[in-house]
Amino acid sequence: MLAENRLHPSDFIWPLFICEGQGGEEPITSLPGVSRWSVYRLADRAREAQALGIPCIALFPNTPPSLRTADAREALNPDNLICRAIKAIKDAVPDIGVLTDVALDPYTAHGHDGLVNRAGYVLNDETSKVLVEQALVQAAAGADIVAPSDMMDGRVGAIRAGLEREGHVNVAIMAYAAKYASAFYGPFRDAVGSRGLLKGDKRGYQMDPANGAEALREVALDLAEGADMVMVKPGLPYLDVLARVRDRFGVPTFAYQVSGEYAMIEAAAAAGAGDRDALILETLMAFKRAGAAGVLTYHALDAARLIAG
Ligand code: PBG
Repeated sequence: MLAENRLHPSDFIWPLFICEGQGGEEPITSLPGVSRWSVYRLADRAREAQALGIPCIALFPNTPPSLRTADAREALNPDNLICRAIKAIKDAVPDIGVLTDVALDPYTAHGHDGLVNRAGYVLNDETSKVLVEQALVQAAAGADIVAPSDMMDGRVGAIRAGLEREGHVNVAIMAYAAKYASAFYGPFRDAVGSRGLLKGDKRGYQMDPANGAEALREVALDLAEGADMVMVKPGLPYLDVLARVRDRFGVPTFAYQVSGEYAMIEAAAAAGAGDRDALILETLMAFKRAGAAGVLTYHALDAARLIAG
């Protein structure tokens, strides 16, 4: 009766990994219970999500190694894995929202989110131009929300301008506005196949975990450039940042409970350190209490089922 917050399936965005081929399902060892799905199996996943009341799914491709290059050109191929996946979902389940990641890491031979110079340093402005083209290819395939996760400066404004120019006026932008250079992304990099490729780290463009005020400046910039909603990532270790962003700007603020957080909950439950269902629901409720409009979580389906009882 006195609860200030409630969890609802409409709070969740479900991230899904996609793979080439007819194999159907590829389990991801470091993300127990999560698999990559072939395009022909994706529509069923989308139907499952929709039946549980989940409004949106987020797609991440595992690009075959032979298509990963220094210039990430496969990101711009209108027939690439993610574009085929978007179309398959939109054909089968037109009402579910499709969110796509704008960043080059599933397509670069070096695993970085952008183009790099000889020293391996990510080039902001050159990358931004490619990201605009990538977002346009995804929008043309049917994406409802494009989500730049690359952390280049100025890319939100450039993407918004590109979308307007090409007539994709209704495509929304969810900016990964405060994305930290985190140790919690390991299993995700296994899932998209970039972990072994990555040279160095992403601290040149992702945020320093020591910084909170900087997150507010990053969010202000992305909003000024036209972001419709923003995200803080990772989730639980950055709840203070989430609450500050929400309080300061009052815009829809999403949290990404990332792969390492998922793996931590699964490991804790497997070790008998806590009840799995309770851990899932308590962590998700923490996001709501901190002010999140919604949460990207690999536990979306489990949580929706638990809420339904
Ligand atoms: C890359 C991207 C990452 C995640 C989402 N998009 C990883 C990274 O920045 O290296 C992480 C998500 C997760 O760990 O669940 N653009």
